[in-house]
Amino acid sequence: MRTIIEPFRIKMTEPIKIISRAEREQKLAQAHYNVFLLDAEDCCIDLLTDSGTGAMSDRQWAALMCGDESYAGSKSWKKFEAVVKTVTGMKHVFPTHQGRAAEGILAQTRVKPGQIIPNNSHFDTTRANMEYVGGQALNFLCPEGLDLTIDVPFKGNMALDALERCIQEHGVGQVPFCMLTVTNNTGGGQPVALANVRAVKALLQKYGIPLVIDACRFAENAYFIHEREDGYQDKSLLEIAQEMFSYADAATMSCKKDGLANIGGFFVCNNDEWAEDFKNLLILREGFPTYGGLAGRDLEAIAVGLMEALEYDYQVYRHATVEYLGRKLLERGIPHVRPVGGHAVFLDSKRFLPQIPPLHYPGIGLVNALYVEGGIRGVELGSVMFGRRDAQGREMESPLELVRLAFPRRVYTQSHFDYLIEVIEDVWKQRDQIPGYRITYQPKFLRHFTCHFESIRV
Ligand code: F0G
Repeated sequence: MRTIIEPFRIKMTEPIKIISRAEREQKLAQAHYNVFLLDAEDCCIDLLTDSGTGAMSDRQWAALMCGDESYAGSKSWKKFEAVVKTVTGMKHVFPTHQGRAAEGILAQTRVKPGQIIPNNSHFDTTRANMEYVGGQALNFLCPEGLDLTIDVPFKGNMALDALERCIQEHGVGQVPFCMLTVTNNTGGGQPVALANVRAVKALLQKYGIPLVIDACRFAENAYFIHEREDGYQDKSLLEIAQEMFSYADAATMSCKKDGLANIGGFFVCNNDEWAEDFKNLLILREGFPTYGGLAGRDLEAIAVGLMEALEYDYQVYRHATVEYLGRKLLERGIPHVRPVGGHAVFLDSKRFLPQIPPLHYPGIGLVNALYVEGGIRGVELGSVMFGRRDAQGREMESPLELVRLAFPRRVYTQSHFDYLIEVIEDVWKQRDQIPGYRITYQPKFLRHFTCHFESIRV
């Protein structure tokens, strides 16, 4: 087999600044050892997120110029609506400025205090939005999804038995809807099988509970189904996505991922009452329903991007980059989540840094070591990000301690990945030297973004 090449040529470049190790140590200290507080230009390879960080295609840039900035009923809205309807098949389409705006309005219109919102795994903003209105965001990931080493194809699946027990325990009236996140970002970027989507839908239908898909990475999920699930090899990624959405009653979307755009999101649903309630709050919070917080040019770029994300050759290349890093880590015995995810490789900080107890944040230790060693910026998904407290207010450990290296779409080339592998390997060799951390300041919500740390030797 020949090398899988990037299915594009580069028409425009953006310089990367490479600062010295001593400068990086100083910058990290100034940022209170929280990489979210670093300046982006001080990060040589920025793998903090795959969200809004992708490179747009020439077709998207051309589409930008066609942006119709009319307040109501613009041509750009018509194009956006048509593409979103083609992909999702849903009756009502509402643009939002990004995914969490759709989640926020969904939560404020449909969730009452004390109600339960199940998911395979809530993303942090989704959980925060549900909890902000008094809901309880619960995860029902299949047991394989919690095993970081077992190599099975669909580790993002929902645990059906546990979901059904939850519905029976709390009562149907306490579950306004159930969510399913594709791919499952917080569980390692793992896909959900269409058989599982179908089964979740069948179970919910029995109780009359609507299914809401968190569709941020729907095209990557469709690619995994094409490659791994029997019966889908002859289907296009668009057909697979359409089948997936056909089982849902609504969906939230961040177009900063598989919309291949730098900003944007949407909410779609079939229910007229949901649509009416959503629209009323959308106007208040985001804007008129035909632009919903976006410029006409953004709607244009997303309309093109959604279809580009479903191009098979693009997904083959994208997955090859993730696989490449995964294979190199495997060869070196560096612990990470297997199989590798759709948009990221997740290092397993518990096994990488066993000397650091979970509440001294091994993930922060690893993230900071990668930055100092090579200017790589990753993100902790562990006890800091998922910080929970028990009834006595004591901090609880997260079951998983991961560091996510997320891949911006169409941005970095193979030599960037080769450099990244060298840096990870150097950190691996010095792993005994890496300190733990404690928090010296934290805000009330989503603490990982802005909290401060200091290092402690354990
Ligand atoms: N749902 C999932 C599964 C996500 O990964 C994200 C964002 C959102 C919802 C919210 O979308 O950012 O447009 O408001 N994830 C980014 C990340 C931030 O880095 O994984 P948003």
